[in-house]
Amino acid sequence: MESEEMTEHGVDVVAIDGPSGSGKGTISRLLANKLGWHFLDSGALYRLVGLAARRHSINFDDEQGLATLAAHLDVEFVSDDEGNETRIFLEGEEVTDGIRSEDCGNDASKVAAVQSVRDALFERQRAFLHAPGLIADGRDMGTVVFPDARLKIFLTASLEERASRRYKQLKEKGMDANLSALLDELALRDERDRNRSAAPLVAAKDAVTIDTSDLGIEQVVAEVYALWQRVSD
Ligand code: C5P
Repeated sequence: MESEEMTEHGVDVVAIDGPSGSGKGTISRLLANKLGWHFLDSGALYRLVGLAARRHSINFDDEQGLATLAAHLDVEFVSDDEGNETRIFLEGEEVTDGIRSEDCGNDASKVAAVQSVRDALFERQRAFLHAPGLIADGRDMGTVVFPDARLKIFLTASLEERASRRYKQLKEKGMDANLSALLDELALRDERDRNRSAAPLVAAKDAVTIDTSDLGIEQVVAEVYALWQRVSD
């Protein structure tokens, strides 16, 4: 059932959206490896805009300043030979781990609510579209950035499970973490992401929703992979 309308300019896209801690990042990366495809971590772009705004003392209510910053963001994503680890550089400085902090996540969700920032990042995200395919991870991959993606997945999980996953992730990276503070921060970020007028976090009408609360990573990867095989046959 290969058709141009079901691919993005002939390149297959799997859009994986969902709230923080739903497992999107890990699952998207594993799938990209399994399929030998490219990977877009769109959340990293919003985190980078937030970090750059802080560094250049641009106020989060200065929409024009944020949009200009987003349009000219000097970033580099560098993958290792196996495509496993991506190192991220902002203005020449490595920020791979730095942008993963909860503070950066919160800043990201503030700048992400500004429509002109989203517009400025649109083409940059589309530029990740290269053969043989793209796994696009974010909040609006299936609704706005890649509306013709062949497969759209919306991952969810309970707030408690997502906070506990995020807690483990931060601890593994040797970063400070407090579970009850994380619960509050994630709840606040979810609310901001879901209720903003610019590309709110919502499942695309044609997305398959998977609740990952009680599923292991490998189970979710297997399920998405099976869905992909079904639609691509
Ligand atoms: O996925 P991650 O936690 O890195 O995203 C950080 C923030 O960036 C999210 O809370 C959300 O506000 C914003 N974001 C977005 N659209 C995307 C990806 C991320 O608004 N496609």
